[in-house]
Amino acid sequence: MVLVSSKELVDVAYKNHFAVGAFNVGETIFVKNILKAAEKLNAPVILQVYPLEYDLMGSDAISYLLRMAMKSTVPVAVHLDHGRDIFDVARAVRDQMNSVMIDASGLPFDENVAVTKKSVEIAHREGVAVEAELGSIGNRKASAANNMGRVYTDPESAKDFVAKTNIDFLAVSIGTVHGPYPSGDSEIRIDILKTLNAALKMPLVLHGGSDNPDNKIREAVQNGIAKVNISTDIKMPFYHAIKDKVISNPDEYEPWIITKEANEIQQKIVGDKIKLFNSENKAQLYFSKNTSLTPLHHFSEDKLDFI
Ligand code: 13P
Repeated sequence: MVLVSSKELVDVAYKNHFAVGAFNVGETIFVKNILKAAEKLNAPVILQVYPLEYDLMGSDAISYLLRMAMKSTVPVAVHLDHGRDIFDVARAVRDQMNSVMIDASGLPFDENVAVTKKSVEIAHREGVAVEAELGSIGNRKASAANNMGRVYTDPESAKDFVAKTNIDFLAVSIGTVHGPYPSGDSEIRIDILKTLNAALKMPLVLHGGSDNPDNKIREAVQNGIAKVNISTDIKMPFYHAIKDKVISNPDEYEPWIITKEANEIQQKIVGDKIKLFNSENKAQLYFSKNTSLTPLHHFSEDKLDFI
């Protein structure tokens, strides 16, 4: 039974200068790959699902993630990535995820605070940890002239935001974008990160973790990033391997044959990321008698009356 609070996962990581890899489970086949790699390296890990992935797999798939997390030999949290509103948060809490993100960063500051506070209220009642975002992570489809949609997180506003919302960890915008970089150059601003870390002294989250130089990720992890989100880097090579397999074996149709190389590639990439985030062999840090293994909370719809 090792479903561990994500708050505990990232708090310990923050104190010990490593980051927990948070890998997007785009489909259930990824779960075994991510856990296999984490178990091989004895590393804590977060399985995360964003709303469109959630819709694809359905709520019942979350039970599978939770069951796999509880059977795992390493500490695991099951997290909602980029919840769009309190309904996404409520769905995740209802489905017994033990960690959620509310992303109201596209709203004006006061509205972001209000939606985030409400999400914290819903989640914390069940012992579910909350991540929120301030500033805006870039988007590879936004124009270069517009700084690819990046709005760097302002340290003073971030302090105010954390105090007003009581979140457990904060996603900061320091130059990454989601997805591959069109021009090939990522721009992680370690100077901004250092200022944020000094002001907030709490675990920070790096979104857009794919396609960045390793040395910048290492530096970010040494300066307050305790959770790194990875989606593109585990998906693109996975599906390209399937495409190659199908093209070279046009008569093949068995999933367990078609996905063989793709699974091996994905496991290797997850392992490489774990080493990059310095979380290899960190699982034992959580197996003390003080570790809060989160039991599944029991949820009933009437708890949502106040939404
Ligand atoms: P990447 O696709 O760049 O890895 O970003 C993932 C992410 O931040 C999910 O929230």
